[in-house]
Amino acid sequence: MQRLAGKTALITGAARGIGLTFAKAYVAEGARVVIADIDADRAEVAAHEIGTAALAVKMDVTDQASVEAGIAAGVEAFGQIDILINNAAIFTAAPVMEITASDYQRVFDINVKGALFTMQAAARQMIAQGNGGRIINMASQAGRRGEGLVAVYCASKAAIISLTQSAGLDLIKHGINVNAIAPGVVDGEHWDHVDALFAKYEGKEPGQKKREVGAAVPYGRMGTAEDLTGMAVFLASEEARYIVAQTYNVDGGNWMS
Ligand SMILES: NC(=O)c1ccc[n+]([C@@H]2O[C@H](COP(=O)([O-])OP(=O)(O)OC[C@H]3O[C@@H](n4cnc5c(N)ncnc54)[C@H](O)[C@@H]3O)[C@@H](O)[C@H]2O)c1
Repeated sequence: MQRLAGKTALITGAARGIGLTFAKAYVAEGARVVIADIDADRAEVAAHEIGTAALAVKMDVTDQASVEAGIAAGVEAFGQIDILINNAAIFTAAPVMEITASDYQRVFDINVKGALFTMQAAARQMIAQGNGGRIINMASQAGRRGEGLVAVYCASKAAIISLTQSAGLDLIKHGINVNAIAPGVVDGEHWDHVDALFAKYEGKEPGQKKREVGAAVPYGRMGTAEDLTGMAVFLASEEARYIVAQTYNVDGGNWMS
């Protein structure tokens, strides 16, 4: 049985990485997906690869007009938006004494403001449709505790856990379940960037940080995007109807809460 048959999901940052893997998993479960990404070219390639169940839209989550236009394009193509995955985010690292205001602003604009107002815009559409909906925010183990070199990103993901709680409590009266996933360390282009930043600040060889964090995971390796799809499909499915305002760790045992 396909668990998301007849549903439409808008996934931000889905041109690559975890978001793209979620889009494929959702289509395999019968959903249609809007691949919403600031990288329009890669979003087109991704949607083309998936086929007619996918629509690419250029969306900058920091720009409310762009978010509204992306939602409208999804509704025009597929008739409705039932599920939002707030997945777009960026990572930065720096010692606290080297954090710049512009870096802070950019991370919070995308990771926090973008997630909040995309949630608001999608919820507005879901409320107008009258059938409830699902919102899944991408948090991180980085939101569970601080890290010396990662203050800004960690704070942005802690904000996502908090927004998930508040929005979850407020929107359930409309039948909209808001929950979050907190991955651990997931290999891919994102972590190539993280690895390069740790090489710079900790004097490591390229690839060394990845090997270290993978070896430290109780499961025994870094995660893959595919390791997360079970939770992403479940939270969007009817089986998760009574789950509200929660953040689930899917991290091979890195964090317990
Ligand atoms: N990879 C990990 O180890 C890991 C761990 C924990 C949490 N996460 C979270 O999971 C999510 C996906 O991570 P990923 O590894 O696939 O990241 P990624 O960097 O591979 O992909 C992020 C996508 O977001 C898009 N994007 C960036 N700015 C945007 C904007 N302003 N508007 C719209 N799209 C924008 C990028 O173009 C890119 O396609 C993120 O929220 C990330 O913080 C990742």
